[in-house]
Order: sequence, then C-alpha cells, then structure tokens
Amino acid sequence: MHPTLLLLLLVTCLLLLHLRGRVSADCEPATCGNLTLRYPFWLGSGNQTLSPCGHPAFEVWCNDDGGSVASLKGSSIHVLGVDYANNSFVCSHTRIASGDDGVCSTDFNMSVSIALSPFTISPRNRALCFLSKCDGSAPSGPGFVNATSNCSAPIYAYLGGTYYWDRPPAIATGRCEYSYIPVLGREAAAMTAANYRRLLKDGFLMEWEAAGVGDCAACNASGGQCQYNNTVAAFRCLCPDESPSSHADFKLCC
Ligand SMILES: *[C@@H]1O[C@H](CO)[C@@H](O)[C@H](O)[C@H]1NC(C)=O
Ligand SMILES: *[C@@H]1O[C@H](CO)[C@@H](O)[C@H](O)[C@H]1NC(C)=O
Ligand SMILES: *[C@@H]1O[C@H](CO)[C@@H](O)[C@H](O)[C@H]1NC(C)=O
Ligand SMILES: *[C@@H]1O[C@H](CO)[C@@H](O)[C@H](O)[C@H]1NC(C)=O
Ligand SMILES: *[C@@H]1O[C@H](CO)[C@@H](O)[C@H](O)[C@H]1NC(C)=O
Ligand SMILES: *[C@@H]1O[C@H](CO)[C@@H](O)[C@H](O)[C@H]1NC(C)=O
Ligand SMILES: *[C@@H]1O[C@H](CO)[C@@H](O)[C@H](O)[C@H]1NC(C)=O
Ligand SMILES: *[C@@H]1O[C@H](CO)[C@@H](O)[C@H](O)[C@H]1NC(C)=O
Repeated sequence: MHPTLLLLLLVTCLLLLHLRGRVSADCEPATCGNLTLRYPFWLGSGNQTLSPCGHPAFEVWCNDDGGSVASLKGSSIHVLGVDYANNSFVCSHTRIASGDDGVCSTDFNMSVSIALSPFTISPRNRALCFLSKCDGSAPSGPGFVNATSNCSAPIYAYLGGTYYWDRPPAIATGRCEYSYIPVLGREAAAMTAANYRRLLKDGFLMEWEAAGVGDCAACNASGGQCQYNNTVAAFRCLCPDESPSSHADFKLCC
C-alpha cells in the first residue's frame, strides 16, 4: 500500500474513533470485592449458559457472604488477582487455603483437581511437597519441616523447585506417600517450607493461552470492545456503531 494512502487510512481511523461513542455497556468490567473482572473474565450467576461477552471458561461467580469471594464458575478455585497484561491470575484452592488445617488435606493432585483447559499452571510456581504415611522413619535432613501440628497423622513439608503439572519434583521421599502443590509466594524471603501455611493461602499462578481468547489489548486499543461470540466460538472485536462484526476475521476496528 502506498505510504500516503496508509497515512490517510490511519487518520480516518483516528477521526472515526474520536467521533464514535463507546459501544454497549454489556461488556463493561464488573467487580467482585476488590477484583476487577474484564475480558476474558466475566461475572456469571451459574444460571446463565451463554456469556454476554467473556469466554465461557472464564466465568466467575461472586459469593458475597463474608467478604466477596470470586471463584471460577463455582469451583474450588478462588481468583485472588488477575494480571491482564500477562495473561495470568493468582488463585488458591479452597480445600487447602481456608482455615488452618488445610495442610492436612494436601493429599491430592492439583493438576487433576482443576479443569485446566484453557489454563496452565504456570511453571513460575514452585512445588510445595507434603510427605505423609511414612513407613518407618520420618523424613529428616535439611529442608524438611514437621507440618503435623493439628493434623491427625504426621505430615512433613518440603519446598521443591519448579512445579510441573505432570511431573513430581525430584526430592528424596523415602518410604512416604507424597503430594505436591503449586505455590507462587509473594516475596523471595518467605519462600521456605516453614511458611507452608502462608504459601498455601497466597496461592499459585495460572496462565492462559492468548491464542484461544483473542488479542483483546489490540482490539481495545483500536476502540473496540472484546467479546467472545459463543455462536461461532470465536473472539470478536465489537466496533462502535457496528452490528457485532460484519467482518468475521476482523480483530481490530480500524
Ligand atoms: C483484595 O482483598 C484481599 C482480602 O479481601 C486482600 O488480601 C488483597 O490484598 C486485596 N488486593 C488488593 C489488590 O487490594
Ligand atoms: C438461579 O437458579 C436458582 C435455582 O436453580 C435460583 O434460586 C436463583 O434465584 C437463580 N439466580 C438467578 C440470578 O437467576
Ligand atoms: C508482566 O508483564 C510486564 C510487562 O507487561 C513485565 O514487566 C512483568 O515482568 C511481567 N510480570 C510477570 C510476573 O511476569
Ligand atoms: C490447633 O488446635 C487448637 C485446638 O483446637 C487450636 O486452638 C489451635 O489454634 C490449632 N492450631 C493451628 C495451628 O491450627
Ligand atoms: C511433629 O510434630 C508433631 C506435633 O507437633 C509431634 O507430635 C511429632 O512428634 C513431631 N515429629 C517429629 C519427628 O518431630
Ligand atoms: C498428577 O496428575 C497428572 C495428570 O493426570 C499426572 O500426569 C501426574 O503424574 C500426577 N502426579 C502425581 C504425583 O500423581
Ligand atoms: C480498554 O481501555 C479502556 C480505556 O483505555 C479501559 O478502561 C478498559 O479497562 C480496557 N478494557 C480492556 C478489556 O482492556
Ligand atoms: C455471534 O455471531 C453470529 C454469527 O456471526 C451473529 O449472528 C450473532 O449476532 C453474534 N452474537 C453476538 C452476541 O454478537
């Protein structure tokens, strides 16, 4: 395309953006407590089967009793904070993050306990390991912490390296059964097994694949609103003054 033509197109775009108002309020951000939910997230009620704008997998229910708690579609996964720029969110699993006895219930595989698609448990998490039902001797050595406290059976914590959803961390487990939970941690100094309670409460990082949900930032920057159209199961950029995109492949308004 000729440079002058390109410039003209750009100017026209900017002019149009300036003249048009914003599109419908349907896709406006919603809040749950101090959490702001916007595309690809959306606030559902559980009765809705179609999302007004967000991606189906990103439906969040807001439970208002005793402080606002945002959960992924009524699941055990609580959304604590979203980083829209990085396609990631911090979440926690209610079974282990609530109360002080959660540590006694770490005997499950996080990777199978949550519907991962289209999410992945970030490899930025570390694996917090829990050893229990040890046959004979308790694990000892540097790094092992007695986490039994109020649990009915002995349990020991160990902070391993990177969490891989499909691969146990390489630690000496002796003759114990063990499980491992992803933890993100807030500050490097607090990343020790002795802080297992805090680490469980602070949650872990989940990421989503940008490809599946569309380039919302680019759409928004062009003046459009991000929408996931369930009929065609695809991302659409809703442009001002236009019926939901007449041009199926348009990611941008201009
Ligand atoms: C949101 O509220 C929770 C507790 O209600 C708090 O732990 C968290 O730090 C708050 N987040 C922000 C960003 O203020
Ligand atoms: C959702 O459905 C339940 C019963 O299935 C009903 O009690 C509740 O009021 C409904 N909520 C909304 C927001 O429609
Ligand atoms: C998030 O993205 C910003 C840039 O958008 C980057 O500077 C930052 O390091 C990222 N944070 C994480 C935790 O990946
Ligand atoms: C252990 O249980 C006792 C009695 O129920 C309770 O007072 C205490 O706070 C508990 N400690 C922890 C760390 O959960
Ligand atoms: C671990 O802690 C529990 C309860 O605090 C205690 O009864 C037990 O003896 C401890 N085990 C070891 C090996 O120190
Ligand atoms: C957890 O579940 C995943 C997915 O089924 C599996 O690949 C992995 O081996 C399991 N981890 C453990 C420690 O059982
Ligand atoms: C789009 O941009 C506006 C203003 O620049 C901002 O308030 C809004 O949160 C953005 N929405 C999304 C989904 O990024
Ligand atoms: C979704 O796309 C279909 C087919 O293009 C269109 O008819 C429908 O109006 C769109 N739905 C919304 C909510 O925009």
